[in-house]
Amino acid sequence: MGLFSFLTQEIAIDLGTANTIIIHNDKIVVNEPSIVAIDQHTSKLIAIGQKALQMHGKTHENIKTIKPLRDGVIADFDAAEQMIRGLIKMINKKPKMFNPALKMVVCIPSGATEVERRAVRDSSEHAGGRDVYMIYEPMAAAIGIGIDIEAPDGSLVVDIGGGTTEIAVIALGGIVCNQSIRIAGDGFTADIQAYMRHQHNIKIGERTAENVKINVGSSLPDLDDPPEDFTVRGPNLMTAMPIEIPISYQEIAHCLDKSISKIETSILAVLEQTPPELYADVVNRGIYMAGGGALLRGLCKRFTEKINIPFHLAEDPLQTIARGTGIALKNVDKFSFLMR
Ligand SMILES: Nc1ncnc2c1ncn2[C@@H]1O[C@H](COP(=O)(O)OP(=O)(O)OP(=O)(O)O)[C@@H](O)[C@H]1O
Ligand SMILES: [Mg+2]
Repeated sequence: MGLFSFLTQEIAIDLGTANTIIIHNDKIVVNEPSIVAIDQHTSKLIAIGQKALQMHGKTHENIKTIKPLRDGVIADFDAAEQMIRGLIKMINKKPKMFNPALKMVVCIPSGATEVERRAVRDSSEHAGGRDVYMIYEPMAAAIGIGIDIEAPDGSLVVDIGGGTTEIAVIALGGIVCNQSIRIAGDGFTADIQAYMRHQHNIKIGERTAENVKINVGSSLPDLDDPPEDFTVRGPNLMTAMPIEIPISYQEIAHCLDKSISKIETSILAVLEQTPPELYADVVNRGIYMAGGGALLRGLCKRFTEKINIPFHLAEDPLQTIARGTGIALKNVDKFSFLMR
């Protein structure tokens, strides 16, 4: 061990549709939106993460912003590679530090195909990874929550990210049954954009819609601790003149109802597939939720009432999966469920 492990640099990456988090030495060293800005003519990287996000929706013909992941998987291979490489560079200004053997654990959706998995491995290797392991996101979520995933007890984990919602029952170090659906936080944002257009004749961008969601997003029309109305400004679709509309959380609850119902249906589908002994464990322990999308107001309460099993929200839902991936990194020799 000794000298070798000293020379080996190790990082864990939660390569998400919305955000990418890198963990090094148990600490979050990078936490950036998964987006890059590229020069259209030279294909050179102009900006990455937060800086690129600020350009999103505001570019001219020379600059293009790209979100390399869609629905939890790599959609643009080159952009993904540039993003991973750039984010790793952010860790240490002296890139020599990350030289000889970079060991990585990267998480992937449980529904990823062989081809999608290879895309993650290849782009990680191209970005400097020598020893690349992969872990399924719901496994990482469970580890991040603090569940003993190797125990002979069943746990149900729901990770509502940006691009995908992952629902899985985990026991004895493996996934017993699962569903991965392409409805999650970014879908809620798209619902709000469409709603504002249809209902209020106002055109808003993705970032404004996300602001609406964070300020007055709700999954229930009657919250115990309701937020104040949020004022949206934008062009009237008919006249192009500016208008202002106060939006209430009740409206957003109505607008998101359909997407949330689809997540409920998927959770019930996983419960239906769950073997009875594990089902009993799940009912006893409750269901765990993580991922940024799980921060939507009232979600735990709504699911608990609908499904009749208590739901618990992870401590820091946006970081749970990355933390779990970081713990997996320290246990690569022990966790046989990691994939190469
Ligand atoms: N306070 C909040 N209320 C509601 N939604 C939120 C809040 N904060 C963040 N989100 C949403 O969480 C989502 C991002 O979550 P997360 O970082 O877990 O996704 P990801 O891991 O990048 O995506 P995926 O796992 O699907 O690849 C975004 O859709 C974002 O709008
Ligand atoms: Mg995620």
